[in-house]
Amino acid sequence: MRQEVSIEAIGLTRKFKKLVAVDHINFQVYSGEIFGFLGPNGAGKTTTLRMLCTLLTPTEGTARVAGYDVLKESAEVRKRIGIVSDGVELYDDLTLRENLKFFGRLHRIPREKRGRRIKELLEFIGLIDRADDIVATYSSGMRKRALIAVALINDPEILFLDEVTSGLDPETAVAVRDFMRNLCREGKTVVWTTNYMEEPEKLCNRVAIIHQGKLLAVDTPENIKKLAEEVEVVEVVVENLRGETFKKIREVEGVQQASLSENRLRIVSSDSEEVLPEILSKIVNDRGVVKGVRKTRTTLEEAFIKLTRRGMK
Ligand SMILES: Nc1ncnc2c1ncn2[C@@H]1O[C@H](COP(=O)(O)OP(=O)(O)OP(=O)(O)O)[C@@H](O)[C@H]1O
Ligand SMILES: [Mg+2]
Repeated sequence: MRQEVSIEAIGLTRKFKKLVAVDHINFQVYSGEIFGFLGPNGAGKTTTLRMLCTLLTPTEGTARVAGYDVLKESAEVRKRIGIVSDGVELYDDLTLRENLKFFGRLHRIPREKRGRRIKELLEFIGLIDRADDIVATYSSGMRKRALIAVALINDPEILFLDEVTSGLDPETAVAVRDFMRNLCREGKTVVWTTNYMEEPEKLCNRVAIIHQGKLLAVDTPENIKKLAEEVEVVEVVVENLRGETFKKIREVEGVQQASLSENRLRIVSSDSEEVLPEILSKIVNDRGVVKGVRKTRTTLEEAFIKLTRRGMK
């Protein structure tokens, strides 16, 4: 079955003076997909999203969003999208219900339909109990939820979310991810950006890895991990590992990445058999205790670091 294309970027480019923030990128997003942009700070995620939302004009190339051209048919695009991003704000001195009414009127939603929609949204984002408090009294997590509700007021086909889970407590972040899943079940397309590597792994159908304005890969999280398969990851369970020893381990030739969380030391290398003896002897010489060693799968984060390194060469 051929999937319906919801978004298509065609040589999409944005320059800021000499800086090429987004560099001739091409990709397609299908209807009903959760599509993630993953990339380091300054990679071009927000710039890409803003062009897709008609908030920023491309320098070259274009994109079709919900079947319309972002340059020539921007009003048609705007009717069919919702956006949560810095700079899209709520009226602090109004209640959330008043905000929703205001934005509903802006989108010319008939009064009757508007009331129903507002009630549905308040239930959906779990703020019905606080709907009549002014937004200025909301916590930042509540504000994020409120912004999502406002972005959904016009029942958009596509929702764009720029780092919507940053600054949220884990529980609220889980709730926001659940919203996204529910939206996709309703057939909506969600495009979002994140710096948190582990999020796309849990949530996205496909991920675009963006680095210095270029797309390095667009694929399922699973396939992106495979791209990094030639690296090996070894996990060493260790007690008494000193900070200095850890530093020495990072410097062992052949070690590409080393990380430590609690008592788990994770080593990424091209050949674990070659680096392991030296690492183990460094631990033991510094009076650390090795409790176990095992090979594990690469994570999306490691794949991502590898891809962005490759992109820099
Ligand atoms: N209005 C602007 N004027 C000049 N340069 C800009 C402007 N907006 C973005 N840039 C530059 O374009 C590049 C891409 O920025 P962008 O905001 O798209 O990155 P990002 O991937 O969203 O990063 P982050 O993870 O930090 O949000 C950066 O080098 C940034 O400094
Ligand atoms: Mg950004």
